[in-house]
Amino acid sequence: MRLLTTLTLTFASGLALAQPAQNAEYQAQARALIAPFAQELLATVKQAMAQGGPQNAVMACQALAPSIAEKHSRQPWTIGRTALKVRNPNNRPDTWEREVLERFAREAAAGKPVAGLSHGEVVDGEYRYMQAIATGEPCLACHGKNIDKDLLALLDQRYPGDQARGFALGELRGAFTLRRPLGDGSGE
Ligand code: HEC
Repeated sequence: MRLLTTLTLTFASGLALAQPAQNAEYQAQARALIAPFAQELLATVKQAMAQGGPQNAVMACQALAPSIAEKHSRQPWTIGRTALKVRNPNNRPDTWEREVLERFAREAAAGKPVAGLSHGEVVDGEYRYMQAIATGEPCLACHGKNIDKDLLALLDQRYPGDQARGFALGELRGAFTLRRPLGDGSGE
């Protein structure tokens, strides 16, 4: 009987340990996907700016951002961006994402550096991870308080209902959001 209890406890604590170790592995995978995704987005916007100014860059963003996200989604992961205030309504947060973004906003308001805010957790059979995005200097032309008049007109035309403007340097702009099924991803 004592042996059985010991075995049961050992087994139970083994299970309890397995998920955090698994989550650490998923978190590392998520982080490895974010860096090249962020880099390609920024490189694309910079190149389009250099070639044709901010108007051209907005059109490039609209045309390319979704496919860049798709390209960086690696089986079994899906990667994208979301925010409390979105430009593209397709990027609106779901309930879980909204809660995490609101938590990031509270932490940022409490003085934590935005770039260091992240959160991962198992939600309904999936591992989900979010990493906050700060508003940097190159973002202000299109998301800041003093957007060029012609650019504003273009944004109004391309994104009626655009909320992603009026941001200040360093402010929480949004987050990278990733998800994957638990297990090896083969769906079995
Ligand atoms: C040339 C203008 C431009 C610049 C510069 C720019 N963005 Fe954007 N941003 C856009 C457009 C256009 C979209 C909508 C893309 C789409 O249709 O998916 C967008 C979307 C986003 C989104 C997705 C959520 C949403 O609002 O739809 C985030 C997050 C974001 N931008 C952050 C940034 C950050 C951070 C920077 C600076 C590193 C930046 N942007 C620079 C134009 C720009």
